[in-house]
Amino acid sequence: MILPIVAYGDPVLRKETEEITKDYPNLDQVLENMFETMYEARGIGLAAPQVNMPIRLFIVDATPFGDDEDLSEEEQNFVSTFKKVFINARIIEESGDEWAFNEGCLSIPDVREDVFRQPNIVMEYYDENFKKHTENFSGIVARIIQHEYDHIEGILFTDKLSPLKKRLIKSKLANISKGKVGVDYRMKFPNAKKKR
Ligand code: CO
Repeated sequence: MILPIVAYGDPVLRKETEEITKDYPNLDQVLENMFETMYEARGIGLAAPQVNMPIRLFIVDATPFGDDEDLSEEEQNFVSTFKKVFINARIIEESGDEWAFNEGCLSIPDVREDVFRQPNIVMEYYDENFKKHTENFSGIVARIIQHEYDHIEGILFTDKLSPLKKRLIKSKLANISKGKVGVDYRMKFPNAKKKR
C-alpha cells in the first residue's frame, strides 16, 4: 500500500522517535509499504517519520547509483546491490573531511541544495530480522544513511544550510507546507487549506 509522504512543516518530522522491538505490530507490512511508497516516489531512502510513524526505522535503496559514472567502479559495484532496512540505528562515529553533495528529500519536493557531511560513519543497527550489526559505511551510501538517520533525529537537510540559503528558500518551504508545489506522488501537507 502506498502511504502519503508527509511534507515539510508537519510536526511528525520533528518529533522524538522511539526504538521498536521485534514485536512491533505488522513490521513486515510496514516495511513492504515503505518500500512501495519510496519506489513510487523514485526515492533512494525513506524514514518512518516521513510516513507519519515516529519510530527509529528507515530504509535505503542505493541501487540507482549502480551506474553513476561519477563513482569508482568499486563503489558502483558496492551500491548496485545496496538495499537495507535500518532499525534502532545509532551512528557511533563520523570521520573525515566534510564533502558537499546535492541532496533532496521526498518531504521537501523541488528543493535541492549542497549539504556538507563527513564521509565515513560507524553505525550500530538491527536489520529486519532483528539481527544486530556494527558496520562502517562511506561515500554515497554513508551520505544516504546520514540523511535518513537525521530524519529519525528530527533533523532535515535544510536545517544544515547557511543562514543565507535558508532565507532564500524560506518562502518555498512555506509553500510546500501548504501544498503549493508540483509533485507526482502521494503527499500529505500540514498547512493545506481544507477543501469545502
Ligand atoms: Co529526506
